[in-house]
Amino acid sequence: MESVDLSYGRSFANGFPHEFFSHLRREAPVWWHAPTEYTPGGEGFWVVSRYNDVVDVFKDAETFSSELGGTQIFDGRGAGYQLNQTDDPKHRRLRDLVNTGFLPRMIGRLEAQLRERTRHILDGISPEEPFDFVPTVARELPLQAICIILGIPQEDREELGHIVDLAIGAGTGEALALEHIKRLGAYADRIVEQKRREPADDILSVIVHAQLEDGSPQLDNRELRAFFALLLPAGAETTRSSIAGGLVALIENPHELERLRSDPGLMKSAVEEIVRWTSPSVYKRRTTTRDIELRGQRIRQGQKVTIWEMSANRDEDEFVDPFRFDIGRSPNFHIGFGLGTHFCLGANLARLEIRVVFEELLARYADFEIVGDLEWTNNNRLVGLTRLPLRVPPRAAS
Ligand code: HEM
Repeated sequence: MESVDLSYGRSFANGFPHEFFSHLRREAPVWWHAPTEYTPGGEGFWVVSRYNDVVDVFKDAETFSSELGGTQIFDGRGAGYQLNQTDDPKHRRLRDLVNTGFLPRMIGRLEAQLRERTRHILDGISPEEPFDFVPTVARELPLQAICIILGIPQEDREELGHIVDLAIGAGTGEALALEHIKRLGAYADRIVEQKRREPADDILSVIVHAQLEDGSPQLDNRELRAFFALLLPAGAETTRSSIAGGLVALIENPHELERLRSDPGLMKSAVEEIVRWTSPSVYKRRTTTRDIELRGQRIRQGQKVTIWEMSANRDEDEFVDPFRFDIGRSPNFHIGFGLGTHFCLGANLARLEIRVVFEELLARYADFEIVGDLEWTNNNRLVGLTRLPLRVPPRAAS
């Protein structure tokens, strides 16, 4: 089978290359991706595609470091101080400091606000008139949610969302993307300073003032800036892909849509299936701290190892009929939110957002119709829809 350049964003322009990964899982589960003209640093990397192997790599953070080069194919700029690009014990300290803001109790408090937001967004949609679901709904709610969490004033939110879009659209690791990320950093400095002076009832204020009982210092400015530059895209981009991709999956599987409508008790497992199905955070990279052997392949110390959650979440050895979208799937040990010490900090928030959006969509509309071509991000790390033209007939009176 012809190989796909996984370091090239355009290889993902029609969605995830599932066929190629099914082939890798079967024939070359630990595959050496030779460098191409698009591969950062001209350095090849390993591609791990089977569920069990991806789980093993996630769990063994001592051998597979996030700190040595970050979590993407190119070396991350935040390596060594941005939460997701640190190893324990440094990672633990950072994580403990920000964790308070993401406890279920804190996230639960947001539900009423998010539901109101969602209703407000849906109020703006005219039944029968085609609109693009991605910017109107899927992008909007996660952006608002993360901005509420960070206590960002309403008038700044659209611009920040726009910067995040530009950074993602510019392609991973590109100089232009880094310029946009710097703009986020500059904004972070201003808002952190403000929360330091005038703490408010938001999670960013909690994080800025967080202090551990063991006496570790509070987060410094660089750590706070890095955390902000991580949280905004992490919160705004991934959940959007699950919401948009989840709706497409329900439309393309009308039986599942009806099943969910008639049994709202299935919402919890539907949310998990949507995350498995869409796996918006597609791969992670680690760097080996020692020579090892994985499925007979010798991996040398200091090499890049990529683990593909999307592929793992379609592994036929772990999931019964993995290419079937099944809102009642049980068991469903998907790893869409990662695993181990770096398990997604925002998982509870993402689950809440997805649930609220689908509850509101189902309550309001009897049907959903796709009325044009879908478009995808040119990005190998955050695969998701950028365009979903939709029409919603009004709900039939019941
Ligand atoms: C469907 C939506 C989401 C998906 C699929 C997702 C996926 C992931 C994955 C796979 C990781 C593991 C990273 C690694 O091992 O290197 C992760 C980490 C993380 N996520 Fe999410 N995420 C989602 C939503 C969110 C949201 C809404 C937020 C923000 C509030 C968020 C914040 C983070 C942070 C801060 C980390 C780093 C945690 C650490 O390194 O300890 N995520 N996410």
